[in-house]
Amino acid sequence: MFDLLTKHLIAPNVWRYSIRAPEIAVKRQAGHFVILRPAANSERIPLTIVASDPAAGTLDIIFQVVGATTRELAALPEGGAIHDIAGPLGHPTHIEKFGTAVMVGGGVGIAPLLPIAQAFKQKGNRVITILGGRSQDFLILENDLKPVSDELFIATDDGSRGQKGLVTDVLKTIISKEKIDIIVAIGPVVMMKAVAELTRPQGIKTMVSLNPLMIDGTGMCGVCRCKVAGKTKFACVDGPEFDGHQVDFDSLKRRLSMFKDEEKKRMEAGN
Ligand SMILES: Cc1cc2nc3c(=O)[nH]c(=O)nc-3n(C[C@H](O)[C@H](O)[C@H](O)COP(=O)(O)OP(=O)(O)OC[C@H]3O[C@@H](n4cnc5c(N)ncnc54)[C@H](O)[C@@H]3O)c2cc1C
Ligand code: FES
Repeated sequence: MFDLLTKHLIAPNVWRYSIRAPEIAVKRQAGHFVILRPAANSERIPLTIVASDPAAGTLDIIFQVVGATTRELAALPEGGAIHDIAGPLGHPTHIEKFGTAVMVGGGVGIAPLLPIAQAFKQKGNRVITILGGRSQDFLILENDLKPVSDELFIATDDGSRGQKGLVTDVLKTIISKEKIDIIVAIGPVVMMKAVAELTRPQGIKTMVSLNPLMIDGTGMCGVCRCKVAGKTKFACVDGPEFDGHQVDFDSLKRRLSMFKDEEKKRMEAGN
């Protein structure tokens, strides 16, 4: 059991939890995630480790309530406990001094982006951050990203904050003005695909973090399989970060929407 120390609602349906997990906290690097079960009979879900404090033995996760398991997780009380947490999992992000790095985050994808932006900045990169959301209410972690960003831009679908439009509109302007050495994009599949398509003609290195369903997180069950460079990869052990120019986003979207249809049926059946 892992103690849930604090919980805060940071946007509509988006929670930040701080959890006591000393063994994971000491090993965790940017890009790592955990697989957890809120209760013994819950399904397993992957969530990125957004922050950790090895001295205090704690780690932070940020999650959006989208279905059964995230609902169960959100229902846990402060002072309660999470049944099990496995991690840290996945390859840590490859961090080096590239030069100018653009971080693009959409919706709750901004959460996994934060530790990566921090690590890039710490390595001496110039960091430009672009945050996108449906409206200003859905923008998260702006105050955490500001100190590690040399420039920070915001785009909202409804124009309630920053530029009205998509993160790719802002990115288009940036890459037309200056040389960018690497882009990291994390968010909805459609956003990551649009970023990769935008940067492909100029050959700008573009990393994305894939979000397929996961069960065991060990490469055994095959649930998280994705197509990258025409080959089958398991996001849990080969990723979750991949070269965006090599990812087959359409097959990932198809697999995710298969589960969406099942979730809709479950909701309609009242389960
Ligand atoms: C490596 C990794 C890191 C992740 N990190 C985070 C994070 O930091 N914060 C966060 O909020 N989410 C993160 N996710 C996504 C998160 O795991 C899913 O939202 C969660 O599994 C949904 O579980 P559920 O039972 O509540 O919903 P389900 O009942 O499984 O699904 C409900 C709805 O959500 C959709 N959905 C399910 N799984 C995913 C998914 N993986 N991506 C997109 N949509 C999905 C379904 O299509 C359906 O519409 C991450 C996923 C991966 C693979
Ligand atoms: S989650 Fe089972 S193989 Fe990746």
